[in-house]
Amino acid sequence: MRVTQEPLLRKFWYCVMPMSALGDTPVGMKLCGEPIALWKDASGAPRAVKDRCLHRTAKLSLGTVENGNIVCPYHGWAFDGTGHCVKVPQDVVEKPNPFGVPGYRCVERYNHVWVALDEPFYDIPVIPEFGAPGYRQVIEFCDDWACAPLRIMENAFDNAHFAFVHKGSFGDTDPVPPPFTLEDTEDGFVMRTEVPVRNPEGMRDAIGMTSDRTVRRTANRFFVPFFRAGKITYPNGLENILCTAATPMDEGKTRFVQWVIRNDTEEQVPSEKVIAFDKRVSLEDKLILESTDENVPLDASEGRELHMVCDRPGVLMRKKIRQLLRATPESTAA
Ligand code: FES
Ligand SMILES: [Fe+2]
Repeated sequence: MRVTQEPLLRKFWYCVMPMSALGDTPVGMKLCGEPIALWKDASGAPRAVKDRCLHRTAKLSLGTVENGNIVCPYHGWAFDGTGHCVKVPQDVVEKPNPFGVPGYRCVERYNHVWVALDEPFYDIPVIPEFGAPGYRQVIEFCDDWACAPLRIMENAFDNAHFAFVHKGSFGDTDPVPPPFTLEDTEDGFVMRTEVPVRNPEGMRDAIGMTSDRTVRRTANRFFVPFFRAGKITYPNGLENILCTAATPMDEGKTRFVQWVIRNDTEEQVPSEKVIAFDKRVSLEDKLILESTDENVPLDASEGRELHMVCDRPGVLMRKKIRQLLRATPESTAA
């Protein structure tokens, strides 16, 4: 699957950055190969339009924000949050109708910016613990990785790599992961299991436990195509919900956005200790995932990868995405 060649992938909400990354000036990025410009309008709400001025194609993201509109850096044309051109400082020979650049759905949710290029199939994933009494959010990462988004998602449900990739952190020595269950949901699935892990220095700080070993009871929710909310419950009652977006930017380029929701307090475990340990673990994953092929085969016709029994979550992801692609006439995988 090539992420820029599947129009279907435009029909989902993607988490593109924390709100804090949007300041007083526009920001540019690619989403599914499409250049987009993001900024905050006069009300502070995030906005997204195509990052290409309709006059002489300059990047609007190099421009400025004035009165809540994005202003092209080249000749000063201004566009509102829907992409409509609201100001031309010079004369225009001919005004087409509509007069503007494509605007995209863009909202704030979970203190992050979400964009959908086309009418989305599903709503933004619901995370019931967010904002619930007793829970806090720790915003962790917004980094660009040189791999396919599906590799990041599959890896988040792959407990067979702990003994290898994470032997330097929490990974146990047993290469065979414990049994797990998979339960279908409307827009993905839930994987449940209990995984014995080591509890090294760094993780001890992050989970508030001093034992050498512990057990992670997990309910890991996958949302088509590239989001997961994985709840880990530790024996001390700590719930640590890893919310990970693998946002397709371009071929072989994925934005890894992650925050956690926890039922402890900043006084019990400071955010920087949570972030420090998860950073260490994510860098272990990044090294390997960036070595993988960016074209993930959804089925045998796209190239062959052998599967293990414990790869069932990843195989199910591929199947769910494949089924959606096949229902989309313009898909190259149909
Ligand atoms: S290229 Fe944008 S105003 Fe001229
Ligand atoms: Fe990992």
